Amino acid sequence: MTLPARATICEVGTRDGFQIEPDFIPTELKVEVVNRLSDAGLSRIEVTSFVHPKAVPQLRDAEAVMATIRRRPGTRYAALVPNEKGAVRAVDAGVDAIHTVLSASESHNLANVNMTIAESLEKLAVVLRVAERARVPVACGISTSFGCPFEGDVPLDRLERVVRGLVDAGARAIGLADTTGVANPRQVGRVLEHLTARFPGIEWTLHTHDTRAMAIPNILAALERGVTNFDSSIGGLGGCPFAPGASGNVCSEDLVHCFHAMGVETGIDLERLIAVSKRVQEIVGRALPGQIVKAGPFTRRYPVPDGVAARLPK
Ligand code: COA
Ligand code: ZN
Repeated sequence: MTLPARATICEVGTRDGFQIEPDFIPTELKVEVVNRLSDAGLSRIEVTSFVHPKAVPQLRDAEAVMATIRRRPGTRYAALVPNEKGAVRAVDAGVDAIHTVLSASESHNLANVNMTIAESLEKLAVVLRVAERARVPVACGISTSFGCPFEGDVPLDRLERVVRGLVDAGARAIGLADTTGVANPRQVGRVLEHLTARFPGIEWTLHTHDTRAMAIPNILAALERGVTNFDSSIGGLGGCPFAPGASGNVCSEDLVHCFHAMGVETGIDLERLIAVSKRVQEIVGRALPGQIVKAGPFTRRYPVPDGVAARLPK
């Protein structure tokens, strides 16, 4: 395998994860999780979203969360926005970066943000201008890039047109999102080969959901194509309220463990991250899908059983 020395992880659990939690998580607990994540060395956190509070009631405290978190130098605190109103709210709240959202499939875009793709592209062009004036960097995410829960297959030329629309509007960082976990590693490789050849200079991110246990294989396929930015979620929280069948993102501590095991550095303290995951399980009141929090890292050792120790060859 050809692997980079380093990869950058953006933690999205407090946005993609918390957005789908049924019971409102008190603002101070959201803030505690963000602070613990930055203390664990996360350099990028998608803290919350500035969307309509009726669409995502769980994140209606976005301003309060942004105002209360402790800003660790070296961490970039971002938020998701769908339109100009969201961008203005995010800039006023002091975000370090804006992440935008639209889908590659018309039906998911309508279900999610109540706009056609063309309408979204117009609104996002305004978001990019708002961000530029405020000197806030933008990364544009594309939901259902690898398939749609309503339409199934998303043809590559359609995805390419959406990317083209974003690039023409001024986007320089683009995230491909597998919203319902339908992508496979071969497909990820093919899509990235196609897009990276046509859009040189774009910074790509892969946003995966582990709905069908293909998230880490997909990430490895992207790593081998030169992508080094990945979204993940503490404990494997996550899911889109407007995509039936969506479940958690790739689990942050599992991904960090995998990267470190292969010698790909992230700057994240795995032990501290595991502790955050345990705390998040307490907060949401249930076990989360992550494996490493249960198994421990691959370096974990158990005492040799008595009878075995006595018989070990000297
Ligand atoms: N934040 C808060 N309020 C917003 C807003 C935002 N980003 N964007 C629009 N609104 C308000 C408008 O001010 C308007 O309020 P009013 O009725 O008091 O005048 C109202 O919402 C309707 O505005 P409109 O532009 O017609 O929005 P809409 O009803 O078509 O909804 C979205 C569009 C994008 C705001 C909404 O679908 C949404 O928030 N979706 C979020 C989806 C999401 O987060 N999905 C999960 C992440 S992938
Ligand atoms: Zn997602």
